[in-house]
Amino acid sequence: MNPPIIAPSILAADFANLQRDVELINRSEADWFHVDVMDGVFVPNISFGFPVMEAICRHATKPLDVHLMIVQPERYIDAFAKAGAAAITVHYEACTHLHRTLTLIREAGCRAGVALNMQTPVDTLIDIADAFDQVLIMTINPGFGGQKLLPLSIPKVVKLRRLLTEAQSPALIGVDGGIDQHTIGMVVAAGIDYAVAGTSVFGAADPLLAIQTLKKARQPLLA
Ligand code: DX5
Ligand code: ZN
Repeated sequence: MNPPIIAPSILAADFANLQRDVELINRSEADWFHVDVMDGVFVPNISFGFPVMEAICRHATKPLDVHLMIVQPERYIDAFAKAGAAAITVHYEACTHLHRTLTLIREAGCRAGVALNMQTPVDTLIDIADAFDQVLIMTINPGFGGQKLLPLSIPKVVKLRRLLTEAQSPALIGVDGGIDQHTIGMVVAAGIDYAVAGTSVFGAADPLLAIQTLKKARQPLLA
């Protein structure tokens, strides 16, 4: 089993020391930057927009994985691609024409991702399996960092892994929310390829060590 791709979430960084925190991730074992954009409408919180994203991009040496928690994300695909996104993930629940939006993302030169909230069944993606490169299973209700993983999300990962294998889709499966040294093992065992982690990285006494620990997870830690 390959080690999971680890994507630290900038939402949990110190925004007054953003360059420092970006450089910390640059020299860590992490693979991507996870960039959470919230509009205060799709989720009950507002994070940041283009100026901050561009500032991150100026210093980041690893791909920017942008997670759009906004309504009508199709209006902003080109702008996020220009701001430096390597991957853009939109929410299933925010897209009336998801297939069109995913196509736009690929046409903009980015990997196309779709995120599913807790209540959205994974089966709903299967007819458009060719249209995305990654699926983000939310393991919390989005809007805030620092929440506890909701265990109901784990069987969704197992089921999606089976569906993607049957469809011969190379799309990656990720999880977002409440990922730490205690929960990483079970999501890896469930079949993920990548994990987003905010609080457990930037809130750790030693973020480099925290990333190393997440990277090493291969099986559930025994209780
Ligand atoms: C929440 C965001 C997450 C968040 C995860 O809506 O999508 O990426 O930063 O934070 P933690 O790892 O603290 O749960
Ligand atoms: Zn996120």
